[in-house]
Amino acid sequence: MKIGVIGAGNVGGALGTLWANNGHDVVFGVRDHKDAKLQELVKSTSGKARIASVKDAAAFGEAVVFATPWPATEQAVKSSGNLSGKVVIDCTNPLKPDLSGLALGTTTSAGEGVARWAKGAKVVKAFNTIGAANFGNPLFGSEKASMFICGDDAVAKATVAKLAAELGFDPIDTGPLTTARLLEPIAMLWIHLAFHQGWGPTGHAFKMLRR
Ligand SMILES: NC(=O)c1ccc[n+]([C@@H]2O[C@H](COP(=O)([O-])OP(=O)(O)OC[C@H]3O[C@@H](n4cnc5c(N)ncnc54)[C@H](OP(=O)(O)O)[C@@H]3O)[C@@H](O)[C@H]2O)c1
Repeated sequence: MKIGVIGAGNVGGALGTLWANNGHDVVFGVRDHKDAKLQELVKSTSGKARIASVKDAAAFGEAVVFATPWPATEQAVKSSGNLSGKVVIDCTNPLKPDLSGLALGTTTSAGEGVARWAKGAKVVKAFNTIGAANFGNPLFGSEKASMFICGDDAVAKATVAKLAAELGFDPIDTGPLTTARLLEPIAMLWIHLAFHQGWGPTGHAFKMLRR
């Protein structure tokens, strides 16, 4: 699949590299092509991923991932050009700068904000409820970590579920995009355990149990 990844930091860098190494065509949409870290990132895919402008990467992707800090996300989405009809994967969490909580929520969500800015796109919230350091290893013993997703388009959600399953996650469709109001606080719980309760960045994940 052609995937544009906007934001090549912890989240975008990890997802893009893993998907490129799994055979997808990945283009990272970046602001500074000369950044040495980005050159290293592309090298780690043995040339399977490449770097382009934000707009070109977004135009390239059948799926376009937003993995930007929340305060930069509106600008990133609006710099991406026409996203209508594309699968847009929103990985963001609207964190307060000191990680003490969410800057918005309960009656709206970052996911719904992305959908407002990405007019006509099929927005799916995903990859926000676990630290990026786990994307390459979502197995906890023999258990696959859950990957909660939500969105309003069933086909787009199936596409994202497949991308999550390819990485080894157990994808869980949690309903319409408004469910992002619930998934973003779940991310906050993960962050709280990692950084305020000392559990660290790779030691825990959420697993949905059902009867
Ligand atoms: N870190 C995690 O474990 C984790 C897990 C799940 C979800 N999240 C969420 O995912 C998002 C990304 O987190 P991260 O840790 O990957 O952040 P990060 O490492 O700081 O990376 C952010 C990336 O976004 C780019 N960026 C910033 N402003 C931009 C703009 N206006 N247009 C295009 N690109 C822009 C940055 O590029 P420059 O180098 O040009 O600034 C950088 O490549 C956040 O919303 C975070 O809450 C994080």
